[in-house]
Order: sequence, then structure tokens, then C-alpha cells
Amino acid sequence: MWLSHGCVKAAASCVGRRLSRAVAGRRKKSHAASAFMPEAAGFLGVRDHGGLQEFSISQTESFWAAVARRRLEWITPFSDVLDYDMERGKVRWFQGGQLNVSVNCLDRHAHSNPDKVALIWERDEPGSEVKVTYRELLEMTCRAGNLLRRRSVKKGDCVTIYMPPCPLAVASMLACARVGAAHNVVFAGFSAEALAERIRDARSSTVITVNESVRGGKVTPLKSTVDAAVRNCPTVRQVFVVMRTDAPVAMTPKDVAMEEEMMSEDTVCEPVTMDSEDVLFLLYTSGSTGKPKGLVHTQAGYLLYTSLTHKYVFDYNDGDVFGCVADIGWITGHSYAVYGPLANGGTSVLFESTPVYPDPGRYWEMVERLKINQFYGAPTAIRLLLKYGDEWVRKYDRSSLKTLGSVGEPINTEAWEWYHTVVGEGRCPVVDTWWQTETGGICIAPRPSEPNAEIIPGMAMRPFFGIKPTLMDAEGKPVTSDDASGALCLAKPWPGMARSIHNDHQRFIDTYFKTYPGYFFTGDGAHCSKEGYYQITGRLDDVINVSGHRIGTAEIEDVVNQCSAVAESAVIGCSHPIKGQGVYAFVVLKQDAQNDDLTSQINNTVSSKIAKYACPDHIQFVQRLPKTRSGKIMRRVLRKVVERDVGDLGDLSTLDDPAAVQEIIQGHRDLCGN
Ligand code: WTA
Repeated sequence: MWLSHGCVKAAASCVGRRLSRAVAGRRKKSHAASAFMPEAAGFLGVRDHGGLQEFSISQTESFWAAVARRRLEWITPFSDVLDYDMERGKVRWFQGGQLNVSVNCLDRHAHSNPDKVALIWERDEPGSEVKVTYRELLEMTCRAGNLLRRRSVKKGDCVTIYMPPCPLAVASMLACARVGAAHNVVFAGFSAEALAERIRDARSSTVITVNESVRGGKVTPLKSTVDAAVRNCPTVRQVFVVMRTDAPVAMTPKDVAMEEEMMSEDTVCEPVTMDSEDVLFLLYTSGSTGKPKGLVHTQAGYLLYTSLTHKYVFDYNDGDVFGCVADIGWITGHSYAVYGPLANGGTSVLFESTPVYPDPGRYWEMVERLKINQFYGAPTAIRLLLKYGDEWVRKYDRSSLKTLGSVGEPINTEAWEWYHTVVGEGRCPVVDTWWQTETGGICIAPRPSEPNAEIIPGMAMRPFFGIKPTLMDAEGKPVTSDDASGALCLAKPWPGMARSIHNDHQRFIDTYFKTYPGYFFTGDGAHCSKEGYYQITGRLDDVINVSGHRIGTAEIEDVVNQCSAVAESAVIGCSHPIKGQGVYAFVVLKQDAQNDDLTSQINNTVSSKIAKYACPDHIQFVQRLPKTRSGKIMRRVLRKVVERDVGDLGDLSTLDDPAAVQEIIQGHRDLCGN
């Protein structure tokens, strides 16, 4: 069917301070000139990127209005550019405007360039890629949209998508947009319980999944995970099942054979007219409490922002092949494998495999075979591949590469240098892009489309158009001096920002707008050099970043505490040479607990309730946790123990029982050595 045999065609560390400075990959003059924003032509007197950046900050509304008129296809033009009240977490862009996102991503390109390749599905087995043109993707989306509509999915509904990266997953996302439903893509590595929690919170009526996923040669029965999840989800009426492999799958009365039913649907599907601020999707992410938050993104602003950043951060030009290897279950996959590239009429790679399957040359063999021009990946994968040596890279022709991107966590200088000199042969600018699920698109990054732009290894560098970062000091005041650090806030709204947390707008206000009134608080710390270049130094809250995936320590603690033998626990991030951060759990057992195989019990619980990547790398069993007299766990002490920085533990005067700290230090030495 569409998925299994390639028949798509037939059916239609915080980074250390900078070490060296490099002007990476100077662009040729003619190229740079052509890359300069055509949108800028309308801005009188703005002749270069610097001028445009200033204009985008001083006249934000004029800037975004001009860009929105030019880049998006509107059904009804907007009447109001921006309406906001940051203290109430209220941000509205392009009100009065109406459009359909799937029309912007598909119809206009299918009309002008029907045979252009929209997606290259890079399946797990190298060399078995499937290309899908704009005409085919539009047809697939229309059939899926008609099916959703026939099965009563409409505006106001939410469809949960639990699928690996594949064309039908993208068509499903766009089909939701076509009929006006929101989508909620859940990363297909999440467990049944984590999936059920997200389905319930989103109140989804419909789930779309595959029989099995195939990744790194390993087959995983996703449908049975969905079966287990929906048993506890009363809102789910129907589950659409797509066949990724030939393996038969047991169908329940709720299940619908998606591809089969799509065959009898029409290839034309009338798009619903949506308001700019209608919901496009929810995407759940971890916060510093145990409950994941469903961030809400809306139509026009999100699409515009992903389209503009995709074009200018990566210097994407017509005809380029864009290779974002992130899974569609994360925001990076949403913005830079799906919406940004498709809004721009580009060719986007959907990567189903892993960086080391069948061997550590996979990425570069794929670059050679698909002639990828922009490659966008994660530091954790770069660090892993670096260890396998340069041969795996040099074996393959990478001359197609023009820009290399990095996302998800700080990229250490060693990995940056390797990416730049070995992978990119010193020719390609490396863009370290800082952003979040909340920001919708890239906010701080070098801009290689700018002529001779300076790039410093390990630095995210400069704000994107319309973005105004502000660093806050310990008193909550904006830092005014040069060369300073602080809590990273964004001072102005931008079109791509999330608009709310699903079902909990108060949490949205409390998390992002309360700490520094009038500003959006990112939760990250940053340093700004005297040249005005930013370097992200890591999270300031209890969220850790494991292989570029966010996870709240409270979320892991909640689950560890559910193990019958566990009395309480404290989870801390620890440095990890490949993953960036690993998970370190301090666990206090109940008095009569049996000690047998507790480590695997804890690991199994975390992987079945959350996902494998959240499993602790180290579990230290302790008699008690260091607590203040008021009963609060002193996490900074645990952090220092884990980072082996116990020389100065700071003020311990409020500690209830100082002996607990010594026990923990000794236990850590026993577990991890000195
Ligand atoms: C971290 C991923 C340093 C940061 C797009 C942020 C980064 C969190 C970078 C968001 C970067 C992302 N340098 N840190 N270039 N990019 N981060 O929501 O802590 O999965 O707050 O979005 O990842 O993770 P999320």
C-alpha cells in the first residue's frame, strides 16, 4: 500500500567559552545578493541584513505584515497585524485573515510545479527511498482529508498521530489542516501510558498509527501500543491503521484500514477556511512539573515563521534538497521536515532510520545518494559519529552540502569543529540554531544567507528577524552591560510563538510570562558577548536535555516513586559524553524493600510509563536525601555531587541532617569512582 512497498507513486555542557573564531563558509557574492530577502524590497532604505534586522525590531508590525502578504496565500486578507498583552499571555497575529495551511503547503506548488518532489522518504533500508511529488502529496492529503471528513472529524476535533516519519504521516497532518482539525503528533517512542495521557489531555476522537515501525533494522509493534493506550481513553472513537510492513495486525471494532478506505476517496478535498488564530496543532513537551504541557500553535503565524526561518537560516534556495533528520514527533520535525520546507515549495527528506544503521556512514551515504544540500541534525548524533572516526564520512561524496545545522542542545566545540571541518570540509557554514517547542521556529542562529557572516563555533550567534532577546539578572532586571550572562527572555512577540497550553492557559502565563513581567521567559540561560553574539548555556529549571529530548526531572521522579520498593527519589541531569546530559537518580528505598533487581525494575517502569530515553544512566540507592528543615530536597547539593564538585557545597545551614550529604558523596564515589 502507500507505506509498505514504495507504491506511493502509484497512488498518488554547556559549551565552553569560545576557543577559536572562524568566518565559516564565505558565500559567493552573486549568491549572497540573490539570497537577500526579496520581501525587503518594499522597505524603503533597507539595503542589507543589518538594516533589515533593525527595521524588523523597530517596526515589527510593518515587517511581519509585508512578509505575511508576500509569503502566504490568503483567502481573506488580515486586517490587524498584532494584538498582544504579554502579561496575560495573549498574542494574536494577523486577525481577520483567513487561509488554509494545506493549500499553502501543497495546492499552490502542485499547481505551479506538480512534478516537483515534495518529500523523499528515506526508509530504514538504505537505497529504498521513495519520492513523492507535490501532485501526489496533494492527492494523498485530499484522500486522507475526505476520509477524516466522512468519519466525522471536523473543526474543533483533535487527531492524535502516532507514526514514524513517512509520507502518510505528513499527509495526515496536512489532512487535519485541510478539514480544520488540530493534530497532536506523539513521538512513536513514547510508551502506551505516555501516549494515553496525551490522548486524554488532547481529548482526541481519532488516532492514526501504523501496524509496525521499522527503525535501525528493528521492528516495533506500534499498533499494539495504541491498543493498550486507547483502552484508557474514552474519547477515542476510531483508530486508523496504516500498513508499514506486511505483518498482519489484529483489528478491533474501532479500527479502520486507512489505506484501503483512502482508495475509494476522491482526490479533491475542499479546504476549510480557517482564521489565522485557529489551532493548527498541539505538541506535548516536558516542563518542570510531572505533567507534560500541550503547547498550542496556530495557523498563519506559525506557518509564516517556519517558512521564513527555513529560507534564511539555512539559505534554502529553489531546487535544494533539505535533509532534517529529526523525527516528526518533535517540534523540529514539524517545523523543518514538514511545514517550513513545504510552505516554501521545497524538497524535504523524511528520515526513518538511525545515524548508525546499517553503519556509522549512514548520514553521509544518504547525503551522497540524495544529494542533500542542507543537513540539519542533533549534537548527540554528531558526538556519536565523531567517535567512529573520519573514514565513515570521507568515504562518501558530500559536495552537495551547502549548510549544516545543529539543534536541540548546546553543541560543544569539538563536535562543532568536526562537523565543520570533516563533514563540511570547511566549506559549509554550521548554523547552531537555538529555539524551543514554545517558539515554533528558530529564534537565535547565524544567518548564512547574509554575505560574509561571521560564525563562532558553539555559539547560536544572532537573533532572527523580529526577535529581541533580553538577558535578566538575579534581581529580575534586564542586563545592560556588554559581555554578560543572564536568564534568556524574548522581549517582543513573534508570529511563531505558542499561544497557550491546551486546557491550562493559567499554566502558560505562570510558566512563561510571570517571572519577568512583559517578557517571554525561555527557561534557558545565555551569555551575550560584547559583539552582541549569544551563546546558550543550558536550562535554568528542572528540565534536562537527554540526546536533545527534553524531559522534566519531576516527570521521572513521579514514575520512579511508583515502584513498589521506592520511598522517594530525586533525579538530576549529569554530563554524558554522547547524550549531552544523562539521568542520575538518587533513590531511597522503603524499610522492608527487597533489594533484588531493583535497578531493572526502575528502568522497566520508566521505559513503560514514559520512554526508553528517560531511563536513568545511574541509580544511587541512599538512606536519605539531603533536605532542608522545611522538607525541600536540596537539589543544588545533589547536582554538585553528581558533577564531582564537592569542594564548596555552599550554604548548608538550613540542612536538616548534614550527615546525609557525606553519605551521598561516599555512595557516589562507590558507584562512579573518583
Ligand atoms: C535546548 C527543540 C543550546 C534549550 C528545538 C531549549 C538548545 C530546549 C539549542 C528546547 C541550541 C535547543 N543550543 N540549547 N542550539 N536548541 N536547545 O522544545 O534548552 O525540544 O530550551 O525544542 O532545547 O527543546 P525542544
